[in-house]
Amino acid sequence: MAQSRIAVFASGQGSNFAALVQAQREGRLGAGRIELLVSDKPEAPVAQRAEEAGIPSLLLRPKDFAGREQYEAAIVAELQRRDIGLVVLAGYMRLISPVLLEPYVGRIVNIHPSLLPAFAGKDAIGQALDYGVKLTGVTVHFVDGGMDTGPVIAQRSVEVQPEDTAESLAERIHQVEYALYPEVVAAIADGRVTLNGRKAVIAG
Ligand code: GRF
Repeated sequence: MAQSRIAVFASGQGSNFAALVQAQREGRLGAGRIELLVSDKPEAPVAQRAEEAGIPSLLLRPKDFAGREQYEAAIVAELQRRDIGLVVLAGYMRLISPVLLEPYVGRIVNIHPSLLPAFAGKDAIGQALDYGVKLTGVTVHFVDGGMDTGPVIAQRSVEVQPEDTAESLAERIHQVEYALYPEVVAAIADGRVTLNGRKAVIAG
């Protein structure tokens, strides 16, 4: 399984998906090639974006399956059929079970809009604003069985301004995501990321 063959998983708008596609077009994704979009919401805008970009998609409704294991087994079968070596979660709003985690251990990454371990889970931007932190940001991490608990690969900070609303802060965080995620995905696709315990190191 080459880590250069990528499936992006997304449930919503897909602006990070679009940023990854754009990075690939501009030669900023290293050896990375986005081979597939996986979405649990066939009606989500991200599906349209994939179609426009000419990227195949696997659109499955979890409720059409007997359970989460069966849903994920169908995804794993398709990933293996396409020889996918790296799973990139980009706004995929589900926890991953061992059915997907085990065959892809160390090969699933996620992006989260806070400096983890602060503000894990839903609405990280709202959580940060409510808490009153002056600094938040973006984390890219390996995925484990928990909610935003896997080893951190890269983080970038974003200052919270006194006049910030959830929308204005989200906008600045998104801009950082669009730059950081392609950089990290390129590093993994090029084999430059190593993991020792919880410590991930990006070489070069
Ligand atoms: C991003 O903020 C990402 O950090 C979080 O979900 C959001 C997805 O947005 N995991 P989009 O679908 O990429 O526009």
